[in-house]
Amino acid sequence: MSHHLVKRTTQGERMFHWINMLAFIVLVITGLGLYAKSFFGLTGLFGGVDNSRVIHHWAGIVFIVATVIIFLQWFKDISAPGEDSLGAVIKEYMDPSAKAPPAGKFNAGQKLAGWVAIILAVLMALTGLAMWFPFQLGRGLQQWMYFLHNLGFILFMGFIAIHAYLGTIGVPGTWRAMTKGTVTREWAKKNHPKWDAEEA
Ligand code: HEM
Repeated sequence: MSHHLVKRTTQGERMFHWINMLAFIVLVITGLGLYAKSFFGLTGLFGGVDNSRVIHHWAGIVFIVATVIIFLQWFKDISAPGEDSLGAVIKEYMDPSAKAPPAGKFNAGQKLAGWVAIILAVLMALTGLAMWFPFQLGRGLQQWMYFLHNLGFILFMGFIAIHAYLGTIGVPGTWRAMTKGTVTREWAKKNHPKWDAEEA
């Protein structure tokens, strides 16, 4: 590896993040088609309503398994104490010319993202399971499951919009961590100065 590049992710981390990302996209498209009349046309992409439902269920299983594996792979990094604060990280995102807070491998925002991702994924999995086998719970509780699955979807879309933006155009140079597994030395110095110093 050239001196200019720093290893950011392992092959296993990238593989499960890609599985997770693709399963998420399939879940959103099939889920919207099943949920609302205005998106009904999307079910045609998967050969109709019945196929969309089966694909939604199994993509959900792939998604939760991949999310739990990623969570375990990054558990140490998202639990590590840091010297940066969420406020300082948001300030840096709003004004990229500002001096970066002393972030380690993951900054305070990414650590929060790691926890939000697993909590929302577990919420979607549990409520989704209750919808897959609808006769196990009482009527009142079952309705709560539908409501929480829909609410979880809205929260997840908000989370992913911010996460995908920051992982691509928001913080240029980050996306290659998911394709090549490396980032440039300048990227590391600018965005994660403490991690960069540890890696040097
Ligand atoms: C859909 C488009 C997505 C894009 C473009 C994307 C992009 C990225 C990138 C580039 C990283 C590496 C960040 C770094 O090395 O600093 C990352 C990390 C991560 N991704 Fe994603 N991701 C996406 C979807 C998801 C989904 C669906 C989940 C989980 C439900 C997820 C969970 C995570 C977590 C927990 C991390 C580590 C912490 C963080 O960097 O926030 N990602 N993602």
